[in-house]
Amino acid sequence: MSNQVIIFDTTLRDGEQALSASLTVKEKLKIAFALERLGVDIMEVGFPISSPGDFESVQTIAKEIKNSRVCALSRALPKDIDAAAQALKVADAFRIHTFISTSTIHVENKLKRGFEDVLEMGVNAVKYARQFTDDVEFSCEDAGRTPIDNLCRMVEEAIKAGATTVNIPDTVGYTIPSEFGGIIQTLFNRVPNIDKAVIAVHCHDDLGMSVANSITAVENGARQIECTMNGIGERAGNCSLEEVAMILATRQKKMGFTTNINPVEISRTSQLVSQICNMPIQSNKAIVGANAFSHSSGIHQDGVLKSQNTYEIITPESVGISTNKLNLTSRSGRHVIQHRMQELGYLDSDYDLDALYESFLELADRKGQVFDYDLEALMFFNQVAGEPEYYKLENIDVLSGSGKIATATVTMTIGDNNKITEAATGNGPIDAAYQCLLRISGLDINMDTYKISAKGEGKDALGQVDIVATYKDQRFHGLGLSTDIIESSARAMVHVMNHIHLAKAVADQKKQRHHSEP
Ligand code: KIV
Ligand code: ZN
Repeated sequence: MSNQVIIFDTTLRDGEQALSASLTVKEKLKIAFALERLGVDIMEVGFPISSPGDFESVQTIAKEIKNSRVCALSRALPKDIDAAAQALKVADAFRIHTFISTSTIHVENKLKRGFEDVLEMGVNAVKYARQFTDDVEFSCEDAGRTPIDNLCRMVEEAIKAGATTVNIPDTVGYTIPSEFGGIIQTLFNRVPNIDKAVIAVHCHDDLGMSVANSITAVENGARQIECTMNGIGERAGNCSLEEVAMILATRQKKMGFTTNINPVEISRTSQLVSQICNMPIQSNKAIVGANAFSHSSGIHQDGVLKSQNTYEIITPESVGISTNKLNLTSRSGRHVIQHRMQELGYLDSDYDLDALYESFLELADRKGQVFDYDLEALMFFNQVAGEPEYYKLENIDVLSGSGKIATATVTMTIGDNNKITEAATGNGPIDAAYQCLLRISGLDINMDTYKISAKGEGKDALGQVDIVATYKDQRFHGLGLSTDIIESSARAMVHVMNHIHLAKAVADQKKQRHHSEP
């Protein structure tokens, strides 16, 4: 048996499923490119039957991604498999992933069927999917709670029907490592044709066991781990890609497994996913948390200064975090910025140098010194929010203070040159600015969540505002970044407005296409 562990990323399917606002095709494509550079073997990028938007993103990604295999999810139903095959067929090779629940709890209470029915549906789905591709994955949903005899039968029959990968999910994150490892071991002992397929695992983190369960499964014969960047996913999330990749790399001598993951891409990919998905990373998160490499106690600091390996088992550089902090000023030219970005590991194609330089100069004028983390924050911000702006914030003035009614005056341009100024009061300066923006745009937007966080260090940090807002039953994520938190707040709302404008334009285009079809 090979010692290569296949990394199957499901950030854009299981991860995306859990977000408060769904991602645009462009946002998903940016993440897909980052995952490809990271070296994931397979990326599951959507559930095409679930919505036209999902179908379109699967199709777009399948067209663009060349170095990872693209996969789409389908229930064990012909119409789902047809949709997955239709969306994926633009790729040279692709995987169809089909699944059905096998646990008694799911079979009886959710599917209202018997196990024999489910077995037949699973087998038929695999056979049906094999018409479109020779790379078919079958998942026994809630395998962690499935009676072992049923699980063995299901796995054997799925392989007989043509599944090339069989996935054993701990869908509800219920098992503990010895138990989950035991399930995998039993499958290897009892399923006669088990060597004809790759055994995969897909663990959720409800009890914080997803990584431990996945690693134990590999020790017992599984050779594919399904995971997501930063562990995002349903409820408590999925197994973290960065954690399993770094466990297998750091403990390679002890465990003997390899993956195709390029660790220096981890930090960048993690940041991008966090920004685009509006999912902050807890600061003590292994590998990618802000504190993952910072030493607080005097004894630890002293040890690390004497020899890094006293308290560090992985270096920050090995996961792509630069510790060389160069500061730039408004006198730094474009080529200095480009050179610094290269040193930080970014390709020229990762960002728009003109846009980055423009925002760098603006920031350098305000802050004096610009640090690496500022540059990266600006780049991520431009990637997420830097689309062509239909609504453009021109100016914002606020008047507020203790015991005063907050007043804002905002000027915004709509379209090419429709410049409008409005003044409004509010229960605080941000509310007053939002009243102005809503009046100018005439959009009926409801704010669901507002979050402010510091990007960078100390009192110099940039203020990032993330909001989720609803417009006509659709939710949008808006991002604003500035040295001034009222301006960041306004920018986040303007970003939402631009998202709404884009969504309307796409819907209008679709309508027109529909009317012009014969
Ligand atoms: O958690 C789960 O069981 C899933 C399946 C669709 C693989 O996400
Ligand atoms: Zn899942």
